[in-house]
Amino acid sequence: MKICMIGTGYVGLVSGVCFSDLGNDVVCVDKDLNKIENLKKGISPIYEPGLSELIKKNYKIGRLKFSTNLKDSVIKSDIIFICVGTPTKKKTNAADLSQVFDVSKKISRFIKSKFKIIITKSTVPVTTGDIIEKIISKGKSKKLFSVVSNPEFLREGEAIRDFIYPDRIVIGTDSSRSNKILKNLYSPLISKGAKYINTTRRASELIKYASNSFLATKITFINEIANLCEKININVEDISIGMGLDKRIGSRFLRAGPAYGGSCFPKDTKAIVNTAEKFKINLSLVKSVIKSNEKRSLLLLNKLIEILKGKIKNKNICFLGVTFKANTDDMRDSSALAMIPSLAKKGAKINYYDPTGEKNVFKKIKNVTFINNIKSAIHNSDLVIIHTEWNDFKSINFKSLIKKKNFIVYDMRNIYSPLKMKKAKIKYFGIGR
Ligand SMILES: NC(=O)c1ccc[n+]([C@@H]2O[C@H](COP(=O)([O-])OP(=O)(O)OC[C@H]3O[C@@H](n4cnc5c(N)ncnc54)[C@H](O)[C@@H]3O)[C@@H](O)[C@H]2O)c1
Repeated sequence: MKICMIGTGYVGLVSGVCFSDLGNDVVCVDKDLNKIENLKKGISPIYEPGLSELIKKNYKIGRLKFSTNLKDSVIKSDIIFICVGTPTKKKTNAADLSQVFDVSKKISRFIKSKFKIIITKSTVPVTTGDIIEKIISKGKSKKLFSVVSNPEFLREGEAIRDFIYPDRIVIGTDSSRSNKILKNLYSPLISKGAKYINTTRRASELIKYASNSFLATKITFINEIANLCEKININVEDISIGMGLDKRIGSRFLRAGPAYGGSCFPKDTKAIVNTAEKFKINLSLVKSVIKSNEKRSLLLLNKLIEILKGKIKNKNICFLGVTFKANTDDMRDSSALAMIPSLAKKGAKINYYDPTGEKNVFKKIKNVTFINNIKSAIHNSDLVIIHTEWNDFKSINFKSLIKKKNFIVYDMRNIYSPLKMKKAKIKYFGIGR
């Protein structure tokens, strides 16, 4: 099939590359010329395990193309995926749909005689598909196109595996013609065990927000239980295991840690609350999840200050990992964005190491330095903070690498055993234990 992905970011690039790997002709379009030129040279704009190899392979075969020409790409394609960003609108909780509507207007101009399916893979609030349909239908027959919702559930860092082996594929459309075409497009994944669900467009849009809000709630729940565990000397990891073994609950997303971040949960929880308010529904549970999560970085900062007995000035603090989680270079809404500037302001000297390299956002902050290896980054530390769970951080010999005698390790991902750390005479703190 001939497919066009509009927006070559985390979602558009990964899905486009995977669709081409499944044998389709795919063109990935972006307005960012630099990104497209680099992709043509085989340079991926994002860190995602396994992605570069698939880009090179499919580009070489000719099944995968990159372009800034939206007109040509839309005209030549049968299926058009909208994969642009839907961030939070400034000063509100609403999703900013300007990129989606802008692209819809452009697509509308190039639908002339051949039937096309326009799909929102971007996460969009319920009823957005209705608005896109109105935009595209101006001055043309509805027989020429169909607007479908097909939300994406991939996780950064596991994106290729998640795309190829999804738990479910959700297609929101009343059009049996579109449903048949899309079931065929996804048939290689369905034959590998993915569940295919055809529902209404509005239900499909809401499934995505409801899923992300639920996962954010699960994380926030265990984070709050961790706060309680710290007060009563219980290990939250035991609670996660004990709860997670109940099949009705499940163990995933039940690990305590820093505030959830990333490109989805913070904005999607806010957007669903905003959408519900438009329909005069109060999602009080999601609202308190948002509040609790927003307070969490401050809560961990206060714990950190307590650990350092209030003496932050001139302390050498090292962050291992600054992205919102491991195996991604995505800094969006990472809790490090709240913690690092605040500690630097209080006079701490901060080194950080991240396997995905230096981050622009910290370049201008005084006393915040990127060090390109773990060994040098932690060498002079008073306090090491394990902020993300990269494999690289899982077996560090702190005693031999840190020169300070009374250094402290604050393990925000509970990677290390408190008992082993005690035996090694390392001052160690985790989350909820
Ligand atoms: N990142 C994730 O893990 C993830 C997972 C599931 C769903 N989503 C959803 O997918 C959508 C995209 O997210 P993302 O993380 O891939 O965003 P992103 O910011 O990484 O990528 C969006 C891309 O769209 C491009 N773009 C914007 N306007 C354009 C236009 N007019 N023409 C061509 N290109 C244009 C931008 O240049 C950018 O490269 C969002 O709605 C997000 O909520 C993201």
